[in-house]
Amino acid sequence: MNILAIETSCDDTSIALVEAKGDKLPSFVIRANLVSSQIKIHRPFGGVVPNLAKREHIKNLPILLKRLASKYKIQDTRYKIQKHVSQHQVKTLMKNVDMIAVTVGPGLEPALWTGINFAKELAKEYKKSLLGANHLEGHLYSFLLPQKTENQKSKIKNQKFGIAFPAIGLIVSGGHTMLLLMTSLTKWKKIGETRDDAVGEAYDKVARMLQLPYPGGPEVECAAKKGDPNSIQFPRPMLDQKNYDFSFSGLKTSVLYHLRDITKHEINTPFIISEEQRNNIAASFQMAAIETLTQKTMRAIKQFDAKMVLIGGGVTANKSLTNALKKMCKQENVLFIPPARNVITDNAATIAASAYINSLQKKKRRMVAQSNLTL
Ligand code: KG4
Ligand code: ZN
Repeated sequence: MNILAIETSCDDTSIALVEAKGDKLPSFVIRANLVSSQIKIHRPFGGVVPNLAKREHIKNLPILLKRLASKYKIQDTRYKIQKHVSQHQVKTLMKNVDMIAVTVGPGLEPALWTGINFAKELAKEYKKSLLGANHLEGHLYSFLLPQKTENQKSKIKNQKFGIAFPAIGLIVSGGHTMLLLMTSLTKWKKIGETRDDAVGEAYDKVARMLQLPYPGGPEVECAAKKGDPNSIQFPRPMLDQKNYDFSFSGLKTSVLYHLRDITKHEINTPFIISEEQRNNIAASFQMAAIETLTQKTMRAIKQFDAKMVLIGGGVTANKSLTNALKKMCKQENVLFIPPARNVITDNAATIAASAYINSLQKKKRRMVAQSNLTL
């Protein structure tokens, strides 16, 4: 089945064409996964401005669709970029699409609507079935997608899922932090989540305090590499509690108080610190966040006798986090399956994967923006 997927839940406009097959063990070939990032537009504001995101999505969606059509050749499915993209090429592409999938939530409502409306129009014009997808399921299933956008098969094609469950799913993004107990690819129970800020949000807020640009996650990771993670003892939030919930707001506030104390400045003024101080704060904050995530995941593995750990969401791009999880999984003798690097941050290929799995289950969602949709 060829799925044309659309993702506009936040500040990335993305359209993908994914070939999906299989039932118990779905496998995917990414024909194209185009992402247009709006980072430069939102950076001066220090975060995503919903109406600007909406404006950019409206502008970018038709451009990305045409670019996808120009790359798509029917008999020979390799890409070939052509300068002029005619409506005919879009028609040819759409003729070979079996289903359109679009993110309906969670996300920014004005941004979500742009994708939904675009998908609805396409489905109507080309008489295609349309499926609404959950952005978080996209992150959860991202581990199923192959590394490359050519004919490479899914990397875990030969793994037997039957023996790899139960699994622990860890979602770490800008809006969510949650732990799932999965008894199969499609059956799970949420066992814990953040009670306040998501871990990605904490990274972004700490970056702002350290006067690092948006998005803060990669910037804090970069600064952390040059700092000493044991220089400041920030709290490990909720680690002493016997549940799987998280709280990153307290950790963020500890960073704020530390900055106030070392600079003797008011909280609402920019803190002037040395590069060394900045790197040490970044490294110590990151260590606290990663230890919390890793420890809670480890406890879940032990309690539920898990065989595998799956992770997804933008913070998965953080190498220190994946290295810590990998090491812990090795010690616990469980499989660790992070997503391929090209499908970590928001992209439509993950939406195609989750929509395909939903279609196997005959799961349908309302075609309206659901900003608070959860798992
Ligand atoms: O999944 P995602 O692309 O969008 C949401 O669904 O939220 O995640 C974005 C989040 C941002 O908070 C960003 O700062 C964080 O992922 N992020 C990182 C890294 N790269 C992105 N956090 C820590 N380290 C990174 N390398
Ligand atoms: Zn996301």
